[in-house]
Amino acid sequence: MKDWRGNGNSLWKTIGASNHTDKERERDDYYATDPVAVDKLLTVEQPNKRIWECACGGGHLSERLTERGYAVYSTDIKDRGYDQMNRVVDFLAQKTRPFSGDYDILTNPPYKFAKEFVQKALDLLPAGCRCYMFLKLTFLEGKARYAELFKNNPPRKIYVFSERVLCAKNGEFERMRESGGSCVAFAWFVWEKGYKGKTTVGWI
Ligand SMILES: C[S@@+](CC[C@H](N)C(=O)[O-])C[C@H]1O[C@@H](n2cnc3c(N)ncnc32)[C@H](O)[C@@H]1O
Repeated sequence: MKDWRGNGNSLWKTIGASNHTDKERERDDYYATDPVAVDKLLTVEQPNKRIWECACGGGHLSERLTERGYAVYSTDIKDRGYDQMNRVVDFLAQKTRPFSGDYDILTNPPYKFAKEFVQKALDLLPAGCRCYMFLKLTFLEGKARYAELFKNNPPRKIYVFSERVLCAKNGEFERMRESGGSCVAFAWFVWEKGYKGKTTVGWI
């Protein structure tokens, strides 16, 4: 597994990643997460040294994880110009683990498919490994989420941000700050494959 990150750039270019114009990127409704979300998570959690960022976008979370010493495998359904992205992958269509051995999955998923992302992550993780999802607090509610996810797969931990963390359309953090910041509350939701106990809530 020594070259799991290397050569990724050339690989995903050859499997059909296209050059998206700025217009296309805007149309995609892409939201980037302020990397401070990773710093805050690492004050309370020690993820596996190998992490799959499975919806990496512009690489904001991947880059911070790399800076913090993690080996990050970065994929997304679209090429958003992140030069360390390993491949273009539709995560929800992924059937097999991309490598052997233990690893965790961490991302801010597309919100409308967040439940499906968690379910797929739990399918693809080895037993005992963790899935870290940056999600709106309101993800906690809802009949379908309870019946299809929380009831049988409760998160092990939920870490609520005590200060708002920005999630900026097209990565335009400055524009967002200038227009007043964020009115959305987020948290890190942490699932551990096989965990069936109570959920603990903490603040970071
Ligand atoms: C909210 S953005 C977050 C980007 C990045 N994780 C971050 O936090 O900065 C969600 C990303 O999910 C990607 N995406 C949407 N559907 C996907 C799928 N089926 N498989 C992989 N990535 C997907 C989008 O292209 C987009 O880059």
